[in-house]
Amino acid sequence: MIYFDNAATTLHKPDCVIQAVTHAMSTFGNPGRSIHEGSLAASRAIYETRLALAQLFHAEDPQCIAFTANATESLNIAIKGTLHPGDHVITTALEHNSVLRPLYEMEDAGVELTILPADPLGNIDYDDFSTALRPHTKAIVCTHASNLTGNLLDVERIGDFARQHDLLLIVDASQTAGAIPIDVQAMHIHILCFTGHKGLLGPQGTGGLYVRRELQVRPLLSGGSGVQTYLRSHPAQMPTALEAGTLNAHGLAGLRAAISYLQETTIDQIRKQELSLMQAFYDGVKDIDGITVYGDFSTTERCPIVSLNVRDYDSGEVSDVLFEQYQIATRPGAHCAPLMHQALGTVRQGAVRFSFSHTNTLEEIYTAVSALQELAKEE
Ligand code: ALA
Repeated sequence: MIYFDNAATTLHKPDCVIQAVTHAMSTFGNPGRSIHEGSLAASRAIYETRLALAQLFHAEDPQCIAFTANATESLNIAIKGTLHPGDHVITTALEHNSVLRPLYEMEDAGVELTILPADPLGNIDYDDFSTALRPHTKAIVCTHASNLTGNLLDVERIGDFARQHDLLLIVDASQTAGAIPIDVQAMHIHILCFTGHKGLLGPQGTGGLYVRRELQVRPLLSGGSGVQTYLRSHPAQMPTALEAGTLNAHGLAGLRAAISYLQETTIDQIRKQELSLMQAFYDGVKDIDGITVYGDFSTTERCPIVSLNVRDYDSGEVSDVLFEQYQIATRPGAHCAPLMHQALGTVRQGAVRFSFSHTNTLEEIYTAVSALQELAKEE
């Protein structure tokens, strides 16, 4: 199989990740619940993962990183744990449903929402932030990159705006954590939500959020914490405040190994390879008669994603044929990004998304380009 669905999950994990999870599964006890060797081994692995992520994202301190099962859980905590009825929040049309749906729920509960539109290339106009600003604006919630077009948002610029107007900045880094360098302090990010199974190359079921040191976030869950058992309420200190119940220590051991791999290989090197594969694919398909490509390719400040359609064929059917006839794995349909599809005019057809990893090869790219040439031929 040629796997071009890396924006959904990276399939080929480094060997060290698989070994770390396997080792953890035969040696770990419950983290933070005892002092026997199994429990300590799990606690140590979790602490090392926290530390590695804090370093990766330039967090003030490892305690600023709390673990969750995925970016959706992190975004729900960030959005529902900071906004109150009467607050105004600004977001964008690039967002995934993991941002939009919690925001719509908050809107139903009395939060006012402004969604900045995207143009047909999938870009926003940064001046719209000033136009949207109101006296009661509390936060900006935005993605770092569209999971459909691969276009980046300029988070540094948005962070400057947020700082000038004293707004919280909550960033969805689902597509960029591990793939693009992120410095939460330089970018003025208050909460960064990430998942472990995409660019970070770790296992599914791992994820988390960075929360700026002085910020209090209301937890979604309360329960066992292993500490302060006789308190009626869940402990308020980070990271325990946002971590109720037993953590996925086995997965987090894998994530720790994945971050070591990223550090050794370097994000820059991986990014260079992925962008060069993306460019070769884009150059190969952009002028094929009958193919429409979406997104802004005028800059390399983007994720290695190319979404396209073949004539007016349903994207699901094209993706099926690509897999059945050519063993090429892609993701069709709506990608949980309804407003982005509205902006691109692809609500009915959806789009076929090709998303690349540094483990892909140029040969695979050329195979996919030839397949698309055949599929786009007029019948
Ligand atoms: N959010 C994931 C994607 O974009 C699953 O495919």
